[in-house]
Amino acid sequence: ESIEKGGYEHFMLKEIFEQPRSILDSMRGRMVAESDHLMMAGIREFENKFANASRIIIVACGTSWHAGLVAEYLIEDLARIPVEVEYASEFRYRNPIISERDIVIAISQSGETADTLAALELAKSKGATIFGICNVVGSSIARATDAGAYTHAGPEIGVASTKAFTAQVTVLTLIAMIIGSKRGTLETTKLRELMVELETIPAKVEEALKLNEQIIGISEQYKDATNFLYLGRGYNFPVALEGALKLKEISYIHAEGYPAAEMKHGPIALIDEQMPVVVIATKDSSYEKIVSNVQEVKARKGKVIAVVTEGDTTIPAMADHVIEIPETSEHLMPLLSVIPLQLLSYHIAVMRGCNVDQPRNLAKSVTVE
Ligand code: AGP
Repeated sequence: ESIEKGGYEHFMLKEIFEQPRSILDSMRGRMVAESDHLMMAGIREFENKFANASRIIIVACGTSWHAGLVAEYLIEDLARIPVEVEYASEFRYRNPIISERDIVIAISQSGETADTLAALELAKSKGATIFGICNVVGSSIARATDAGAYTHAGPEIGVASTKAFTAQVTVLTLIAMIIGSKRGTLETTKLRELMVELETIPAKVEEALKLNEQIIGISEQYKDATNFLYLGRGYNFPVALEGALKLKEISYIHAEGYPAAEMKHGPIALIDEQMPVVVIATKDSSYEKIVSNVQEVKARKGKVIAVVTEGDTTIPAMADHVIEIPETSEHLMPLLSVIPLQLLSYHIAVMRGCNVDQPRNLAKSVTVE
């Protein structure tokens, strides 16, 4: 086992550090930025169906559901098709309205999640086209779909999903770009810009991983906290949910992820000088708004751990801790902003003596409903 961990103390840490490679592997052979060329074997024969879809419904659970939320922002913005993101377990029991012009995307690392499998079977029986995004080759979900694309993350052993999430987001980004260019909603110049930027992501993830030492220091200060709040807006909202889920599942600290503006409708009541608030506040279209949210937290003496874009000076002047990540397009930001949150949860869990790779009560794939 120690050989399989490749010198890392835990599989989770190894998998976090594998992300420059797993992201690259998930885009390799699927795009050539110099020629604006995108190709994804699984989608080719369904390109017209995707382009003419009246709606895309994404079904998934847990971290895969968070990747689905990122895809909602991507597909609606780049391809202008309405997207609904559903918890598979709710969708399957709701008598949902599904038509033959709907495309259902099932996202699953393991490809064995019972609720996701049942949700896609239901959609299939109602005539929808089913597209799968799985990591495990030949898994039940991969076999049950009409077509699909694999995430090439490699085996993920740690129960807490890390590299599978970023691989899913990479593949979903490519899909959004393919549909957007097919529909003409994504201009060639914008497409080219995004492709060139996507190619830089593995190196930028490498940069973000250098934050490890700094994050160990922050973890020391907050390892005994009993609650955490994670806030983000836009593309960083699903990242806030994912950061909170990571912390809960491996450190057993209660954590909530929230859209930052929604805080004033309830969670703001929780904030006092004991409350660490992780704010993902990178430079994007909601930056000015999130600056106000940070002020609201500071006015109530919450401790702000801010993830910001390198060079930002406004939020660092207010926050208690500043984690700087490289600049990128807001469409691609989740691939970078999630990295420090994975590291934070990992180190806090290790410091609390938790079984990081096999947290209590959790299984790697949930094959029962
Ligand atoms: C992630 O850290 C979790 N362990 C869990 O939420 C997981 O993402 C969920 O069970 C879905 O699994 P799947 O991607 O294999 O379908």
